[in-house]
Amino acid sequence: MHDILEQLEKKRAAARLGGGEKRIAAQHAKGKLTARERLEVLLDEGTFEEWDMFVEHRCVDFGMADNKIPGDGVVTGYGMINGRLVFVYSQDFTVFGGALSEAHAEKICKVMDQAMKVGAPVIGLNDSGGARIQEGVASLGGYAEVFQRNVSASGVIPQISMIMGPSAGGAVYSPAITDFIFMVKDSSYMFVTGPEVVKTVTHEEVTAEELGGAVTHTTKSGVADLAFENDVEALLMLRRLYNYLPLNNREKAPVRKSGDPIDRMELSLDTLVPDNANKPYDMKELIVKTVDDGDFFEIQPEYAKNILIGFARMDGQTVGIVANQPLVLAGCLDIKSSIKAARFVRFCDAFNIPVVTFVDVPGFMPGTSQEYGGIIKHGAKLLYAYAECTVPKITVITRKAYGGAYDVMASKHLRGDVNFAWPNAEIAVMGAKGRWRSSSARTRATRPSWPPGGRVQGPFCQPFVAGARGYIDDVILPHETASASAARW
Ligand code: HXC
Repeated sequence: MHDILEQLEKKRAAARLGGGEKRIAAQHAKGKLTARERLEVLLDEGTFEEWDMFVEHRCVDFGMADNKIPGDGVVTGYGMINGRLVFVYSQDFTVFGGALSEAHAEKICKVMDQAMKVGAPVIGLNDSGGARIQEGVASLGGYAEVFQRNVSASGVIPQISMIMGPSAGGAVYSPAITDFIFMVKDSSYMFVTGPEVVKTVTHEEVTAEELGGAVTHTTKSGVADLAFENDVEALLMLRRLYNYLPLNNREKAPVRKSGDPIDRMELSLDTLVPDNANKPYDMKELIVKTVDDGDFFEIQPEYAKNILIGFARMDGQTVGIVANQPLVLAGCLDIKSSIKAARFVRFCDAFNIPVVTFVDVPGFMPGTSQEYGGIIKHGAKLLYAYAECTVPKITVITRKAYGGAYDVMASKHLRGDVNFAWPNAEIAVMGAKGRWRSSSARTRATRPSWPPGGRVQGPFCQPFVAGARGYIDDVILPHETASASAARW
């Protein structure tokens, strides 16, 4: 018995040491935490329960039979984030570069299967050289097993990926299927083919950071949602995100009451929208003044900035916010913003999170690049997402709601539950200027005079026209927005 206990402790110590002191020091020298240190930051203190610490790979080729480290390059198990259950895996770059073997994949699949069984989210901390080269096709099979579980779990339990080192080749597809991707600046990258292959095939010279770093993916490709300065910041923000989410698709997100009174009036909102309809304003101001404690957890803040998405709370309950941003491209819908918002609406729908939509949209972006890029199909994705969405939907039109974009942005016709408009809202097929420009000379002569201040709101635009048909449930004053929206839950 004594021998066994000694052996057990030896194995545990070996697993905890991973690839050894030298490799741990190298990891720290790169500004990265180790797999275990990351879990300590992510999880509530003392809650981590590790599984499969003694798993070893079964490869005998290339001298691997004598090269085994207990745990095989990934730390798996479960723990708590602010007292709520979460399953985790954390790849250990100090062990074979975190490369995925058959056994390594089995460990990941085991926590994913259990997470699905009990209904709790999975968080994956990725730091890996990809498929374990010595294992060949067994490793590829392991990846596919993970992918299949990612797909089966999609919409059932939240899945979040943290990229904290390399993620290359087909390995990128597991994070890509998950709901959110966070990256760490300067130490993480994701690409299907690395700089060397790119150089050979397309003759482009590009660094790993330029090709697939955190900034690239949060500003250019939209693959990742948020980029952080270092591991600790990224993990702490992940804890914050976690607080907004339910454990699974049958539960509601936790309610966290705030001190903000539900019936509060935000008088400053009455002057948010400028008199001149062509002047922009910051939609974020409306969001932070409408949600509890002004706390808006924005997703993809640096990508497709003409639409804002993110989580907040109203009367303590998690809501998903979608809002056109007049400051960027006048708030037009284009390919990127449609994809960004559609994916988010679908997430909210899957996880019982009501959607609040603030609308100020002059229409879809015109142009050949949009048409050639498939704006028709991408715009339709947003329409589809809103139309199939069965969680509560509240819509507030703050100014423009023109054309197809009016329909798409959670209109009454797409089963909006409560649709409000501010008194200055302009709901029409197109803006007054566009309409007058295309009308005949005779009609032009009878057009209403422009009100002082350059407002273009014509008689066809006013919210009462849509209101008369029941497309708008009520016209509310801007300062009532917080109370009117929260009271509808
Ligand atoms: C086995 C690997 C490995 C891998 C790294 N290592 N990647 N071992 N399989 N895929 C080992 C290294 O040999 C090294 O071991 C240790 O991990 C650390 O790696 P370094 O190269 O010293 O680290 P660094 O300089 O930081 O470079 C990291 C790296 C590089 C960029 C990831 O190691 C690399 O290019 N690795 C190969 C990547 C690769 O080709 N992966 C397969 C992609 S295809 P020692 O003992 O020397 O310290 C793929 C397909 C998936 O993943 C398909 C799914 C469908």
